Amino acid sequence: MIKDDIKRLVGAREARVGVIGLGYVGLPLAAEFARRGFAAVGFEVDANKADAINRGESYIADVSSSQVKELVGAGRLAATTDFSSLKECDAIIICVPTPLRKTKEPDISYILAAAEEIKKNLRRGQLVILESTTYPGTTDEVLLPMFEETGLKLDEDFLLAFSPERVDPGNPQFQTHNIPKVVGGCTEDSTEVAALLYSQIVGNVHAVSSARVAEAAKLLENTFRAVNIGMANEMARLCYHLGIDTWEVIRAAATKPFGFMPFYPGPGIGGHCIPLDPHYLLWKARQHGFDSRFIGLAEEVNSRMPEHVVTLVADGLNDARKSMNGSRVLLLGVAYKKDINDVRESPALSIIDRLRAKGADVRYHDPFIAEVRFDEAHTEGGGAPLQSVALTDDELKSADCVVIVTDHTQIDYAKICQLSKLVVDTRNALGGDLRRTSCARIIRL
Ligand SMILES: NC(=O)c1ccc[n+]([C@@H]2O[C@H](COP(=O)([O-])OP(=O)(O)OC[C@H]3O[C@@H](n4cnc5c(N)ncnc54)[C@H](O)[C@@H]3O)[C@@H](O)[C@H]2O)c1
Repeated sequence: MIKDDIKRLVGAREARVGVIGLGYVGLPLAAEFARRGFAAVGFEVDANKADAINRGESYIADVSSSQVKELVGAGRLAATTDFSSLKECDAIIICVPTPLRKTKEPDISYILAAAEEIKKNLRRGQLVILESTTYPGTTDEVLLPMFEETGLKLDEDFLLAFSPERVDPGNPQFQTHNIPKVVGGCTEDSTEVAALLYSQIVGNVHAVSSARVAEAAKLLENTFRAVNIGMANEMARLCYHLGIDTWEVIRAAATKPFGFMPFYPGPGIGGHCIPLDPHYLLWKARQHGFDSRFIGLAEEVNSRMPEHVVTLVADGLNDARKSMNGSRVLLLGVAYKKDINDVRESPALSIIDRLRAKGADVRYHDPFIAEVRFDEAHTEGGGAPLQSVALTDDELKSADCVVIVTDHTQIDYAKICQLSKLVVDTRNALGGDLRRTSCARIIRL
């Protein structure tokens, strides 16, 4: 049975693991397999990334270049743009992007492109796992028929499973090895072997009865986050109108040891996951004549936060008898969350665009992001690219308003409080002591 063949290779760490897509998800995963003694090969369409890996250079903050160098040097990690070597892999894991179309419908074209390459190279004895976040049914309704067109049969010739990725870039506490992994196969054998493979690199593997359950579990996790952040954001806007400190309210509510889990407001949601994933669930729901009102509502509330931040800036300037038009506004942080270099879907883009559309002279400082470019959704303010400026004393003193959009750890917040005139703090980055002794006027979300 092929199940036993693959299990033997996995158990002996002799299985060759191919990872398609070496981004935020794929590179840490490939590195972890290599670190545990497997031969890991990354398959990339971006030749620059493949070359960087083969030179021993990492472009993902959670994986160090020294680690990549060591693994490449030991012959356990390599990258290639030649997909014909997929044939040599015993396990193939797909980690390609799953964006949305302009219509907010799922765009699984990257999954399909990766699956086409697998199909061309599929052979008896391979385990294929999809990790990209997607709607329930993708693995067994889309991938399985494609692979069976080769004439090879599930269970008899190959195995197929889904296992969602939960990596949290920039989180030093939870990384690939200690984030529990959910695994659901298209068949029992697929679940069993995929679970065995992940148990070689992850401490806790949770097997479920089908690929669809695993696909739906991932979407529940991220929809849960989007909805609860939406709730916190709505509360923040309400508290602003009522003159109540939102953060103090949340801190107080969080003392309840059961039935409450704190979520925090912010300038809006960003990244490749939380703003997008709920739409995968919504799309599938609509295919079945079902509408998810929570998802639509959360998106509506969350997508209005950049506008609310701009209102806070305008209110602060107004109190200082200044107009937005002509004022200098310095954003601190443009990454969608702290300590990472990812600007995808970042609310900072919308905040900058709105401020520029109102005539503000916008500058930004982000130690992780040297330049931001604006897509067609952000052209009201002209759409010219912006470069990060150094966070000098003069830069702070000459800003009419400083807006903390991302609370990167390495920023000297005491200096911000000392030298700025006005600070809009969307992340509660300025603690109580700093606020009490601050020379700047501080407006918090
Ligand atoms: N970034 C996260 O925090 C995170 C967390 C959990 C799940 N996910 C999910 O994981 C998946 C991957 O996300 P990511 O953040 O790693 O994306 P990414 O953009 O960082 O990386 C994807 C990589 O795939 C490559 N690629 C695209 N098409 C390819 C193809 N046909 N063949 C080979 N390589 C190809 C790209 O060049 C890129 O390097 C998505 O479905 C995402 O929703 C991401």
